[in-house]
Amino acid sequence: MITTSGLTKVYQSRGREVTALDGVDLHVREGEVYGVIGQSGAGKSSLIRCVNLLERPTSGTVTVAGQDLTALAGRGHRAGRELREARSRIGMVFQHFNLLSSRTVQRNVELPLEILGISGQERGRKALELLDLVGLADKAKAYPGQLSGGQKQRVGIARALAGDPKVLLSDEATSALDPETTRSVLQLLRDVNQQLGLTVLLITHEMDVVKTVCDSAALMRKGRVVESGTVDELLATPGSELADALFPVGGAASGPDSTVLDVTFLGDAAAQPVISQLSRTYNIDISILGAAMDTVGGRQIGRMRIELPGRYEDNVVPIGFLRERGLRTETVTPAAASPAPLTKEAAK
Ligand SMILES: Nc1ncnc2c1ncn2[C@@H]1O[C@H](COP(=O)(O)OP(=O)(O)OP(=O)(O)O)[C@@H](O)[C@H]1O
Ligand SMILES: [Mg+2]
Repeated sequence: MITTSGLTKVYQSRGREVTALDGVDLHVREGEVYGVIGQSGAGKSSLIRCVNLLERPTSGTVTVAGQDLTALAGRGHRAGRELREARSRIGMVFQHFNLLSSRTVQRNVELPLEILGISGQERGRKALELLDLVGLADKAKAYPGQLSGGQKQRVGIARALAGDPKVLLSDEATSALDPETTRSVLQLLRDVNQQLGLTVLLITHEMDVVKTVCDSAALMRKGRVVESGTVDELLATPGSELADALFPVGGAASGPDSTVLDVTFLGDAAAQPVISQLSRTYNIDISILGAAMDTVGGRQIGRMRIELPGRYEDNVVPIGFLRERGLRTETVTPAAASPAPLTKEAAK
């Protein structure tokens, strides 16, 4: 649904060149919620602004819903109109809401429809329908100044949906909100994703946001995508920083003569009975060093760090036992047992 290839963005800043994007290849599938995470300055906002051509990429291409936006941006007047139309199919939600304070809530939602030249009556009908969808039907006549942060962002989402977009882009939509409001706004994004079949690309620096709503995620660092995939794929990737940050399982080995394993289980593969079976079958004592369990995209996912007595060579058979039962296991080397660097960086 959204594909960028070789996307680069170089800003000229006080005679200096700043490379904000350095060859980004991203692929967001239709109907998914895709999260891009990275520390401040990684290039996340530049990426999202290039995706809807608010910012002109230095090189590379952006394709949204099969249309090459970069090609349209490079051509003449007629293509300019096509580009405007294509962009009206991309909704944008901002961190600071960007509402017009002199307009009522309803007229804020109507704004994109005015630009599209839709008649007054039709605009009003559509705006009220969208306000109903975001749970603010009773605030149509209020002004932004009379709303809470969460309510303002709901208006922002309603406005982003006004042009019947296929794609919603969100740049830190919940960063200015408290945790509870964040959860309800994320739930709303999830709802519109499911009810309207909308593809959502969201930018965040909070791992919790990825955990709560994303089907897929990418990690950006210094203008590059260093890891990406569905949450399942990431969890199955040995050494994935995103997987470690999503499910941090701490805990160091109790001594040198033991084997530490991270066991990942998805959906039905419940870990608990398997661990006790393992203990009984091989008559070994297993310590649980750490565990993290959560629901990602409506599915139970968990990780557990366990310790088996003896070195790796002594545990090949028990490890095989776990793998046979569909659990993903990864041996933890002592160095990797310290917290993942991403977690530290993300705590901005
Ligand atoms: N208009 C601009 N002119 C010059 N440099 C810019 C401009 N916009 C961004 N940059 C630089 O590009 C780099 C990436 O910035 P960007 O805003 O994309 O990061 P970000 O990941 O969104 O960070 P944050 O989490 O703080 O929002 C930074 O080094 C930034 O200083
Ligand atoms: Mg940003």
